[in-house]
This record gives sequence, structure tokens and C-alpha cells, in this order.
Amino acid sequence: MKKLLLFLHVFCCSCFMVFSTTVSTCRERINLGDCWRFHNGDEPEAVDANFEDTGWQLLDLPHDWAIEGNFSKDNSSGTGGGALPGGIGWYRKTFVPEKADSDMKFRIVFDGVYMNSEVYLNGILLGRRPYGYITFSYDLTPHLKWGEKNVLAVRVDNSEQPNSRWYSGCGIYRNVWLVKTEAVHVGEWGNYVTTPVVNKSEAIVRVQTTVSNETDVDIKVTVCSSLFDAEGKCVAKADTLCQVGGQADAVAVQQLSVADPHRWDVESPYLYTLITELMDGEHCIDRYETITGIRSFKFDAQKGFVLNGKPTKINGVCMHHDLGCLGAAVNIRAIERQLEILKEMGCNGIRCSHNPPAPELLDLCDRMGFIVMDEAFDMWRKKKSVHDYARYFDDWYERDLHDFIMRDRNHPSIFLWSIGNEVLEQWSHADADTLSLEEANLILNFGHSDDMLAKDGEMSVNSLLTKKLSDLVKALDPTRPVTAGCNEPAPGNHLFKSGALDIIGYNYHNANIPDVPKNFPGKPFIITESNSALATRGYYRMPSDKELLWPERWDKPFYDSSFSCSSYDNCHAPWGNTHEETLKLVRDNDFVSGQYVWTGFDYIGEPTPFGWPARSSYFGIVDLAGFPKDTYYLYQSEWSEEQVLHLFPHWNWKPGQVVDMWCYYNKADEVELFVNGKSQGVKSKTPDCLHAMWRVEYEPGSVKVIARKNGKVVGEKEIRTAGEPVQIHLTPDRSQLTADGKDLSFITVEILDEEGNLCPNADNLVNFEVEGDAFIAGVDNGSPISMERFKDNKRRAFYGKCLVVIQNQGKQGTAHLVATSNGLQSANVKITID
Ligand code: GAL
Repeated sequence: MKKLLLFLHVFCCSCFMVFSTTVSTCRERINLGDCWRFHNGDEPEAVDANFEDTGWQLLDLPHDWAIEGNFSKDNSSGTGGGALPGGIGWYRKTFVPEKADSDMKFRIVFDGVYMNSEVYLNGILLGRRPYGYITFSYDLTPHLKWGEKNVLAVRVDNSEQPNSRWYSGCGIYRNVWLVKTEAVHVGEWGNYVTTPVVNKSEAIVRVQTTVSNETDVDIKVTVCSSLFDAEGKCVAKADTLCQVGGQADAVAVQQLSVADPHRWDVESPYLYTLITELMDGEHCIDRYETITGIRSFKFDAQKGFVLNGKPTKINGVCMHHDLGCLGAAVNIRAIERQLEILKEMGCNGIRCSHNPPAPELLDLCDRMGFIVMDEAFDMWRKKKSVHDYARYFDDWYERDLHDFIMRDRNHPSIFLWSIGNEVLEQWSHADADTLSLEEANLILNFGHSDDMLAKDGEMSVNSLLTKKLSDLVKALDPTRPVTAGCNEPAPGNHLFKSGALDIIGYNYHNANIPDVPKNFPGKPFIITESNSALATRGYYRMPSDKELLWPERWDKPFYDSSFSCSSYDNCHAPWGNTHEETLKLVRDNDFVSGQYVWTGFDYIGEPTPFGWPARSSYFGIVDLAGFPKDTYYLYQSEWSEEQVLHLFPHWNWKPGQVVDMWCYYNKADEVELFVNGKSQGVKSKTPDCLHAMWRVEYEPGSVKVIARKNGKVVGEKEIRTAGEPVQIHLTPDRSQLTADGKDLSFITVEILDEEGNLCPNADNLVNFEVEGDAFIAGVDNGSPISMERFKDNKRRAFYGKCLVVIQNQGKQGTAHLVATSNGLQSANVKITID
């Protein structure tokens, strides 16, 4: 095998980059995101390698062109899709592969392109991929011109909308990688690491390695697997000789025994690193890294979810993939910030609703300790929006499901596979317009013989499809259960009837949940989606104890002139519940493994209960800008070990107005409220009511709550009536960034009065200017109806707050952000970049 001394030069018009010089490892995975040319619109000629693209925009990936656009009710995405533009876009990248590399193999990996991508190399079509959330790759090697200019061209078509029930983004919105290997290498997604035995004193780590031989001759290599703990100490090792035929794959299986393993759990997500080396004698021809964790778990029909022997409630949230004002363009720090905010709330689970997520999200969940339900589809054959994935399902579902499981099955944070969300095939009455068994066998590739068909005749096509999907998953990963988010709770549901779901999953239907053990004897259960409670941060509708079901009916247009939902946990969609109701239900029923609340963060699109001009969701516990709504503290008081004392709403009302004051708290026996020093009574939470409430008359001044435990004061919170807006206050989440071109500082902007009180109704327009080595990546304020652009240097405050996101430019230095607003004292902040 050739000694590796590798050079890869990639240039792109104005930028010439050397990715690597002398390379010590035998595999390279290079981020290919820099310096692409982009054109918003169709340009069929761009396939041609000689096409002149110097007039196109120069940018770095990941990129989402929709987030740069303007909201319009005429955009075909509709309010459900965020009312942002779609269309067709082209990306091109020019590069020169070194002649010295001509024995190497090059594969390009796209983590996700929304949607309908076509990838060309030097004018040759490498492939098309409709599903916008799937990771896919192509072998570049046969078409590369060594030592010459090569051109990658990618056409992205998101013109036929709506094709998603939420904001999808447009473009190459996830990372792109170039993977360079020798002709003999670990296959794509070539390692499968599982832990068949886990106890306190020992774990067996099973490693299954696929070796791909792309030469024409038979070869022998030694597969050397070494497991390293978090301190970098090798804790187990195995070597296996492996014979691989020419142009073939072979699989080596090894068992590594680990004494006294550190087990992964949500509080201590301990990770190991497996290094797999392919050795040709003394020479390493591939080195492949897999992050893994050691944990045991089961879903139990009585005890719920059990992690490492301990019953553990899944206190999870559903998340869509957008990153607020950054759109769908993947940024690790932006995802990490979302997860940090959720973790601090006590959240320990993420449902990737309803599609394969960015791999970076899963890496972070591994590292930060989240129990992930990884989901493949929002629909199967029956569409939910006019142009959605249903039209590709028959041709692509096997491939997409296969690639989804193969990519993700090593993540220790994944505990559940979901084969679909509320697919319309579930409904017991959904058979009328489906295929006959014979047709389904042909179209969906059930692979049944006549005998089997006769036998399976007792099962509906939809149940057979469920079984087929579940079998596909199980063939690739038998270690995790398969479920689906269902909204027909009856046993007659075709997905349940298939018997192929290991775990019964309900979205909503709290009233049916007590009957689950009776209806599904012996089956574990999880609330795959809960609540759909609605709130606008900072807006309160009284009386707070009046529940609002908005919309009144899901199929009827709904209008309320405020375009705002109350933050008292008294407003929810009719198919859902208040946050408190489901918290109690999960707490009181051991058999319930937990819940994934709809949703952790607000997301762009689906502005239920409203239509235009609302364009982003109201469901989040945290708003689109990342500012917690009040119910955040309800969860924190119930789910976390943090001491919580949260009093709301603000204290700026009309004199004499009756105001409901609520308090979420924990670690105290009682709370007492004072208005301008006068006690309004002592209250305590009860098992039935997870908040304290006082109905008081407003008078300007102060409202204060005191928490006591065993008669001793353990906490105090005061809110003062705010005067007129006078000053701006800036709080960066981090004032030191890494000079990597990606790292972000999220800066909270608050409008304060003379005394420093937050002005709870302020909506001043704030202008931003950055000097130095950073730029403004986005602005937001969490308002679901703002028509202001996300990519701008100004934003109105919304209930006193807005957000500006600063991104470093990839060089060491400093950045100064100055925030100004008419009539207010300005503010500035310095960010260091190293
Ligand atoms: C569910 C659905 C989610 C979201 C939610 C809004 O039925 O699964 O994707 O649409 O409703 O309430």
C-alpha cells in the first residue's frame, strides 16, 4: 500500500486553500464548507464545468437562503412554512485534486440539503436525493481529474411548496465533508458498536467493522480496535485478521471487555472513544474513530424507562431543526446553546421531530446527556401537505430509512427509533383508499411470496408497512426499540395492530393514557408528544384560571386581534393540555416512561392558533430568540435540582386593576406575596396545583414573594414598577469566542428604566453596529408576528427584550458591539476572539 504523503489543494477563484500538508493519519475528513459560489435561481448551464460563475455570491456553507428573505403572505411556503421564500438555487465549488492522490478514494458527504438535490461533478450527474433531511454521499473518485480543475455543482429545488408543515430552510444547510481514504478502508458508517453486557463491574463492547476493499485483488488486513476512556487511557483492545475479496466487503466482529465501566447517563454522560485501525503489517492504512457510551436500558410496561437499572422519567421536549434567526443553517454553538438552556430547565430528552437531525445535534446529546428519540418521517404514503415527501416515499423509503439508521446507530444518546409521526396510515378507517395487498407487495417491496401473502392477508397493508419499516430498523439495529408518534390512541390503529411497535407512543390524548395498560397489556408506553400549550413571552390574559382552547376547533379559522397567547399556562390547542396537567399525569403513573413536550423552543412556521401575519410558533417553552417563557420555571421547579422562585407577571398595570400573580417554586414549604409591603397571604403548592396564585389589586411600587422552608426564609424575588425607558442593557452569553469563523455570542438586549428595571412593554427600535473581527449573524425578539428581517442590523424590542447574534470572522482579535436607540442611553460590549 502506498506510503501516505498527501496534499490536497482546493481553490475557489479568489481563495486558494491548502487543506493538509504532510498527513500522519491514513484517512482525512475535511470540511468542504468554505468558498462556494451561490446563485439564487435556476441556471441549468451551471452543470457545465466551464460555466462562468465569478459573478455569483461567494459564501461558506452551511447556508440557508430562505432565512435571508422577506416574510410575505404570498410566499408559497405559507404561514405553516414560515412565510419565507423557497425557490431553486445553485452552488458551485472549484478545486484541484493533487496528482499524488490519484490512488486514493474520495467521497463527498452531504449532511443535508433541502431539498431535491442534484449533484454534478465535472458535468456528470452523481445522483439526486429528494429527502431534504437525509445524509447522503457520492463517490467522486471515478470522475476526478487529477491535477486539474474540477467543478462540483449542486442544484437545490425547494420551489414546490408547501412540502413541510414547518420551516425547512433552503439550500446546503448542513455540513459537507470530503472523505479521503486508501482503496482499502473502513466502509461508510462502517463501525457498529453495541454493549450487549453492562453491569457495574464489567461491560462487553461489541465492535462490528466493515472493511471495504476497492482494489481488484484479495487482501488481508488486521482490524485493531482500541477503546479509550475519557482520560485517553486505553481500557480494552482486540486484533482480528480479516480477509477481503477484491471489490468486496468483509465484516470483523470483536468483543472488548471493560472492567469497572463508567456508565453513560443523563447526569454524567461519560463517553469512550473507539479507534479502529486497519493494519497492513506494520503499516496503518485506515484509522477510524467512533464515539461511544456504555449504558444499559429497558422500557418496562410497569416501571417505564429504566436506565442503568434505575427508573428514570424521560423529561423531554420535541425540537424542530431551525435555529431561530440563523434559520436552518447548522451552527454547533447555536445548537449547543439551545441544549444548554433546556438542560438548565431540567430537560433530559430530545425528540428530533419529525426527521433525521443534523449529526452535530446527536454529538451534543451524547456529550450533554439527553435521551433522544430519533425520528425518520412525518408522513409515509399519505401526504400532509401538497408537495411533501409522500410523493417520494415508495421509491425512497427503504434507502432513506437504511441510511438514517446506519448514520445514527452508534450514538449512545439514542434510545428510541421512531418510524413516523402521526402518519395518516395509522387511522383504523384509513384502509379504504390504500393499495391491495398484491399491489403493496409490488410497490412497497414487501418481498412476500404468494404463501406469505395469503397468510398476511389478515393484516392490513398499513400494518404490513409498519412491520416492514420496523423490520428494516431491527435488521440494522436490534438494540433499540421501535416506536411511532401516534394520534389515534385506540388499539384499532393500524400501527399498533401490526404488533411491530415495541413501545406504544401517543401524541396527546391524556384522557386515554390511564387505559394503556388495559388496552396494550405488557407493552411499554411513552408520551411521544404532549401539550401543544401556547404562549407569547410577556403577554398575559386574565383571569388566569380560565382555560383557553385556541383554536376552538382545529379545522375552523381562528382570529384574535392580539395575535398573542397568554403566558399563564392557561392556553392550549384543543388536542393538547396545559403543561401542568401532563406533568402530573407523568408523575402519577409509573408505567409512563416520560414525555416529549411540544415544543422546547418556538420554531419558524406553524403559528397555531393564528394565520398571517403570525409566522412562527407559540408552542415553545422558550421563545424563538431563546428567552424563556414563564413555564420554563414550572419545568425547572419540577424537573431540576436548581432552587427556583419565579414570580410573574410584571408590575406595570393600570392602578386599581385586578392582577393575577403566579409563582413557580421548589425547595420551600410556602410562599408569601407582598404588595408594597402588605402581605397578600401565604400559599403552598399542592399535588394538584404546581403553582401558587394570588389575585391582587395593582398599585405602583413593588410586588415581592418570599419563600420559606421550616419557617426560615430561603428565597426572595421582587419586581418593581418600571418607569419610562431610559437605557439599553447588553448581556452576552459569552464574551470570549474561538476564532473559528463559526463561534457565536448571543447578546440579550434589554430596555431598562432609570433605576435598571426592565420595561416590560418596551418596543424601542435598537440599532446595532459591530466593529472589529465579527459580524451580525442575526437579530430577533421572539415575536411570532414581527415582519422584521432576521438578517439585519436593527430590531425592535418585544416586551422589553431583543437579541443580536455576533459571529467571529475566523481571526483572533476583538469585536465591539454598540447598541443605540432614539432617546435612550446607548450600550456597548466587547467580545474577545482567540
Ligand atoms: C401535532 C404534530 C406536530 C405539531 C403539533 C402542533 O399533532 O405531531 O407536528 O403539528 O401537532 O400542535
